[in-house]
Amino acid sequence: MTATKGPPNYWDYLKLDRLLALQGGLEEDESQLLSDELHFIVVHQVFELWFKLTLRELRLARDHLSGDPVPEEAIPYVVHHLRRVNAIVSLTVDQFGIMETLTPQDFLAFRDKLVPASGFQSFQMRELEVLLGLDDAQRIAIGGLDSHAPIKEAARAKAPGADLAWNRVQAARGEESLRAALHRWLHRTPIRGSSPEQPGDAAVVDGFLTDYLAAFERLDTDHAADMAAALGEDVATVRGRIEENQRVARRFLFAEDVEDAEERPRTKRIRAALVFIESYRTLPLLAWPRVLVDTIVELEEQLVLFRTRHARMVERMIGRRIGTGGSTGVDYLDRTTRYRSFPELWAVRTVLLPVEALPPLPNPEAYGFAR
Ligand code: HEM
Repeated sequence: MTATKGPPNYWDYLKLDRLLALQGGLEEDESQLLSDELHFIVVHQVFELWFKLTLRELRLARDHLSGDPVPEEAIPYVVHHLRRVNAIVSLTVDQFGIMETLTPQDFLAFRDKLVPASGFQSFQMRELEVLLGLDDAQRIAIGGLDSHAPIKEAARAKAPGADLAWNRVQAARGEESLRAALHRWLHRTPIRGSSPEQPGDAAVVDGFLTDYLAAFERLDTDHAADMAAALGEDVATVRGRIEENQRVARRFLFAEDVEDAEERPRTKRIRAALVFIESYRTLPLLAWPRVLVDTIVELEEQLVLFRTRHARMVERMIGRRIGTGGSTGVDYLDRTTRYRSFPELWAVRTVLLPVEALPPLPNPEAYGFAR
């Protein structure tokens, strides 16, 4: 006879007995902790739970964007899940305010026993960065080692649980990142009705970029005299600045910054797709792609805000002391606010044009009803 489990109840379903027994700290006994330390542990655990959900949602979004082709109806689905990620990250930014109810002196009462434990070893944060597609070259080196090192070193020293942490980071490195999936999808975007597998596609893309750059150059050059008058500067100085801006635009659009000659056409097509989607976004078939791009920009913005808010909280708490993980502390954290997993999505904003200055689209009907 099988034992009947009875109807579900709230505490069993949420495993509350186990969840609420996990705040004992190093002592494994909550009653020995100051209430400030219990607060410190609970706040960190809540963040980690949010990270857990974020990782799940990001993987889901990435998987749905990885198809070839990606069905049109998949895009709203991906956006839906990324919006959940954005809501979570935005909430965690606000949660630093709860951490700040701990005063600097309260924290000093138990800080030293944490060394060398640190948020550095938050393997879920590292997984998140890797899954998004943060390039390792951007990581700030600490004592010649990159920011994966604190987890890797702990694993090498056979610290309890460190193998699990390092294996998870490693596993994430073996997966496709959201950035890579997004780029594959962007690369296939029809530009002026042409797709990469069609003969003559490279010429169509070059034609679009040439027309676009010409429109970009015309716009600013026409405005040089007006801008100089408004700024009270001489026209040659303003024109020099505009020309520099135009060089930056050309470099970006034609991917002249990409040294690998085989990679350059691919990057060029991805950037052309971004400009195309942003420019003609009111056409029905481009509306959702543009929302997707915007949602990812918002996601990265939220992460930058997370890093910035964390750094300010840390500055308020420990000033310019070094961290328990051994970094320079606030100085290091401030530098991480420059990380970008989606640099192209930010860079494209520099070259956007007002709608009336856009080169006319020869075949708008290919993207839904004509404008
Ligand atoms: C009293 C509160 C806190 C202080 C003083 C603090 C301080 C620091 C410092 C100084 C670092 C740099 C690494 C080091 O040298 O240790 C760091 C890294 C980090 N902290 Fe905190 N932190 C606090 C709370 C939190 C909370 C609530 C979270 C939420 C999960 C968090 C997440 C992180 C993460 C993910 C890193 C790694 C950042 C990176 O390398 O990009 N910290 N923290």
